[in-house]
Amino acid sequence: MLKIAPLSREHDRAAFDCGVAELNAFLKATARQHGEKGLSRTFVLTESDKSAVILGFFTLALCEITAEHLPPSYAAMYPKHSLPAVRLARLAVSLRHQGKGYGSLLVAEAVHRTILIADQAGNIGMFVDAKNARARDFYKHYGFVALPGQVKTLFLPLKTLRDAIKAQ
Ligand SMILES: CC(C)(COP(=O)(O)OP(=O)(O)OC[C@H]1O[C@@H](n2cnc3c(N)ncnc32)[C@H](O)[C@@H]1OP(=O)(O)O)[C@@H](O)C(=O)NCCC(=O)NCCS
Repeated sequence: MLKIAPLSREHDRAAFDCGVAELNAFLKATARQHGEKGLSRTFVLTESDKSAVILGFFTLALCEITAEHLPPSYAAMYPKHSLPAVRLARLAVSLRHQGKGYGSLLVAEAVHRTILIADQAGNIGMFVDAKNARARDFYKHYGFVALPGQVKTLFLPLKTLRDAIKAQ
């Protein structure tokens, strides 16, 4: 059975390879430290009978954005000062396990956790910086929308997140 849990010392970070050196290095060297310092939180996907082997991971962090950076239809809903949001700071699936739906599972869990944060402290939705055109297409698949004048940054509004959970 698959499970998603906070990254801990028990997980084999060194063996993880998603094909992107920067993401591998973040998981190996930075993710746990950042978790301990309260800068971000990383969650890993494993199989319960091989729980040290990381199949994929994602990292969430808090961020702020001003309404002027949002698409106009959303900007009109908010005051002009900085707005709280969640950033999907990293997402990766091991090369050996890509194309099996694990990326979708991790996005769904990130959505679920963003809603929990919204319920406890408020946020307007989730942002992500897509590394390239392929990653941008992957995220658009889930309803992320482009920000005006931004090539990389995409936004998943809280309402879309809540509607996606209701539809499941
Ligand atoms: C991007 C990544 C996380 C996708 O994970 P995955 O487990 O292979 O994706 P899934 O099998 O869950 O695919 C989910 C859906 O997205 C689609 N998809 C997968 N990769 C895609 C891509 N690069 N571009 C567009 N769509 C993509 C799939 O076709 C699938 O669609 P479906 O549900 O209609 O069948 C994975 O390929 C990865 O780790 N890549 C390297 C790291 C990376 O680029 N991370 C993103 C950083 S911005």
